Amino acid sequence: MKETCVLAYSGGLDTSVMIPWIGEKYGMDVIAVLVDVGQKEDFEAAVERAERLGAAEVVKIDARREFVEQYVLRAIKANGLYEGVYPMGTSLSRPLIASKIVEVAEKKGASTVAHGCTGKGNDQVRFEVSIRSLNPRLRILAPVREWGLSRDGEVEYLEKKGVKMDRGKSRFSIDDNLWSRSIEGGELEDPWVEPPEEAFVWSRPVSEAPGEPEYLILEFNKGVPTRLNGEKLDPVELILRVNRVAGSHGFGRIDHMEDRVVGIKSREVYEAPAALTIIRAHQDLEKLVLTRLELEEKRRLEATWAWLVYSGLWFEPLRRAIEAFIDFTQENVDGEVRVKLFKGEALIVGRRSAKSLYDEKRATYSSLSRFDQTLADGFIQLWGLSTVRANEVRYRKS
Ligand code: ARG
Repeated sequence: MKETCVLAYSGGLDTSVMIPWIGEKYGMDVIAVLVDVGQKEDFEAAVERAERLGAAEVVKIDARREFVEQYVLRAIKANGLYEGVYPMGTSLSRPLIASKIVEVAEKKGASTVAHGCTGKGNDQVRFEVSIRSLNPRLRILAPVREWGLSRDGEVEYLEKKGVKMDRGKSRFSIDDNLWSRSIEGGELEDPWVEPPEEAFVWSRPVSEAPGEPEYLILEFNKGVPTRLNGEKLDPVELILRVNRVAGSHGFGRIDHMEDRVVGIKSREVYEAPAALTIIRAHQDLEKLVLTRLELEEKRRLEATWAWLVYSGLWFEPLRRAIEAFIDFTQENVDGEVRVKLFKGEALIVGRRSAKSLYDEKRATYSSLSRFDQTLADGFIQLWGLSTVRANEVRYRKS
């Protein structure tokens, strides 16, 4: 009996080539699985192309809700930013796509799965560690690492199969979903070159942003955004709306030097107006409702959480252990944050919560204060004791 290979099919050039190629090289039937995580893709055309290229079956899975509920909301609670800047849309989607591929493979009794990642990037690591964690018996094919085809060679190969496809409309390599849009390649490979306007589609240039500011009120419930300007929205819709508005004000572009898992540095450009706005608001609200020590520890764990997710270790138990800590803190993260969008910025200009730890009567400089200032003297003497002592012994003259 012919073996079956389940392919993580994106609709792009590489994974299109893979459909007949795996059939020819490995003699397997190919089931193409197309997972919708909110990317801009002509799914109908992609399904039709896979069929024309001889896929035994094409399965399209709408995973947008699951992506947001199981991945993005966790990233919000964790203020998930790799190297402090990248909200990790691509990184978060890979373990989800991997889990869908494994599910289909198990259901169809397939022995093999395949992905279209190159040997230089993070995505191969994310896919393969996830697949092995879920089902170590599945054989994994990564044809791009072995076939040695150029882009033009791929186009030619498809033409021989009767399918016309260009090298990709854009000179950039794009990976997008509901949370962020990654832009790589072309002239961006020179880190000195400014990203051209054509690289961006979710955000306007600041020069074309409206002349008037726009305010958003984001309400969070246990660390998760639930309302926008008072209107209850499901998180998918909320993210889409914030993305549109924040992007229209020219906010949400990222350009940084990134360290990949495989040890390569790369210049990465992203746009993520909603992700950056929501995380910024969430971080601000946490500062109102969490204690100083909770915040300090959370920041350390957040860095580890982001590193694990970026590095393809979604299925590492430590991630869940960190999330247990995070979820405990999020019990108190209820409240509203006011964001001012204006000329490429998203400024937090207000926050309030029934669980606020801020005590105006304590903090105020006005005479209404009920803080006993005489207590400060003794505190300062004890607080500085060891520092003052060290200076006396080491540095002070007399
Ligand atoms: N550097 C980012 C990441 O590793 C984006 C990768 C984009 N992937 C792509 N196939 N263009 O998450």
